[in-house]
Amino acid sequence: MDKLSRRNVLKAGGALGALGALSVATPAHALPPWTWSAQGSVAGAGTGTDPRWVWDEQADPLVASLLDRGDVPRVNQLLRTWTKNGQPLPAGLPADLRDFMEQARQLPSWADHGKLATAFRFNEKRGLYLGVLYGLASGMMSTVIPKEARAVYYSQGGADMKDRISKTAKLGYDIGTRNAFAADGEMIVTCVKTRLVHAAVRHLLPQSPYWPNVADEEIPISQRDMMVTWHSLPTTVMQKLNAWKVPIPAAESAAFLHSWQLGGHMLGIKDEYLPASWAEANAQADQVLKPVLAPTPEGIKLADILLNLGASVDAGILSKPILGAFTRFLLGDQIAGWLKIGREPIWDPLLRLSWGPFIAVREGLLPFPLAPEAYWLFDEFLRKAALLFLSEARPISIEIPDTNRPS
Ligand code: HEM
Repeated sequence: MDKLSRRNVLKAGGALGALGALSVATPAHALPPWTWSAQGSVAGAGTGTDPRWVWDEQADPLVASLLDRGDVPRVNQLLRTWTKNGQPLPAGLPADLRDFMEQARQLPSWADHGKLATAFRFNEKRGLYLGVLYGLASGMMSTVIPKEARAVYYSQGGADMKDRISKTAKLGYDIGTRNAFAADGEMIVTCVKTRLVHAAVRHLLPQSPYWPNVADEEIPISQRDMMVTWHSLPTTVMQKLNAWKVPIPAAESAAFLHSWQLGGHMLGIKDEYLPASWAEANAQADQVLKPVLAPTPEGIKLADILLNLGASVDAGILSKPILGAFTRFLLGDQIAGWLKIGREPIWDPLLRLSWGPFIAVREGLLPFPLAPEAYWLFDEFLRKAALLFLSEARPISIEIPDTNRPS
C-alpha cells in the first residue's frame, strides 16, 4: 500500500472498514497487535479496528481545507474570543467549520454531571499531587513516547517549548476546575481547539522536510497515539497515587476516570477506544504505552528543555537537579538514563527513602512525622513544582498552527 493511496483513503473520508483492511496489508511498524476488546470500552462495543489506522475523519479533511484555503489566521483571530463552553461561536467563521464545531462541542449522552462534581472534589483534594504528576510523570513521559516527541519537536510549537507547555498545562488545569464541562467552564473549548490543532498537525507534518527522515509513518497522531498519550496522563497518575497508597474513595477514583473519558471524547477519541474502567485502562496501557517507550534524539532535547524550565527562576541551580531526581524517582532508572539525566547524590536517596513516609504522614496514615523538616521541604517543593507547571495556566489561546517548526 503506497503512501499516496493511503492518503487518498483518508481524504475520501477515512472509512473505518477500509482503514482496518489497510492494517492487515501494511507491515506492522513493530507495534504489538491490537487485541484490546471494545467490550471494555465506554461504547461497550466496536469494530475492533486497530486505532493505529484511524485518525479523525471529521476534523482532518476540514482543517486540511482551512489550511489550503488560507483561512487559518482569520479563524485563529476569531477563535481567540471563544473561551467559555457555553459561549456562542464567534460570527464570521467559515460555515463548514462552524457546523463542525457546533457538533464537536456537544457532550455525549453518557456525560454524568454528578460524577463530574465528584471529580472536582477529587481534584481539589489531590491538586498538589496531580500538578506534580501531570508535570513530572506525564510531561516527562511524553519525551520517551517516540511518535509524540517527534511530532512535538518538528511541529510549529516545538520551537517554543515554554509556550507549548503552558498550553498543555491549560488542559490539565481546565479539566480539574469546578465547572470544567459546564457552560461557564473552559474544558470543552480547550478540547475542541486542540482537536483542530491535532488535525492541522496531521496535514502539516507530512510536508515537513524532516518528517520523512525521522518518522516511520506518514500521518501522525492516530487514535492509537491518542490513547498512548491519554494513558501517560490519567492512567499513569492513578497508578502512581495507588502505588503511593494515597487513600482514594472508589467514587472519586471512578469520577476522575470519567472526567478523562469525557476529555478523550471531546478531543475526538472514539468511545470504542476509551476504557470503561481502571482495570481496562491498565490492561490497554500495558498493551499500547509500555512497549512503545524509547529514547529519541528529539525526546532527549525536549526533556532537557523541560528540566531547564525552572532556570528562569533560579538559574537552574536547584530546580534542574530536583526535577531530574524527581523524573528518575517517578519514571525509573532506565528512562532517566535514556534522557541522560545524571544521578543526584542528595535528591535521589532523599526521594527514594523519604517519599513513602512523607505521603503516609501527609495522609494521616502515620501518627508521627519522623523528620518534620524533610517533610516540610517536600511539601514546599511540591507547591513550587505544581506552581511551575500550572502557573502558566493563565488565560491562554490555543491556536491552529499553519506551519511546521521553521528549522
Ligand atoms: C497540541 C493535548 C495527544 C502532538 C496539543 C495541545 C494540547 C494537546 C492541549 C494544544 C497546545 C498547543 O497548541 O501547543 C493533548 C492530549 C492528548 C494529545 C490531552 C491525548 C490525550 C497527542 C499525540 C500527539 C500530539 C498523541 C502526537 C503523536 C501534538 C502536537 C501539537 C499538539 C504536535 C501541536 C503543537 C504545535 O502547535 O505545533 N496537544 N495531545 N498530541 N499535540 Fe497533543
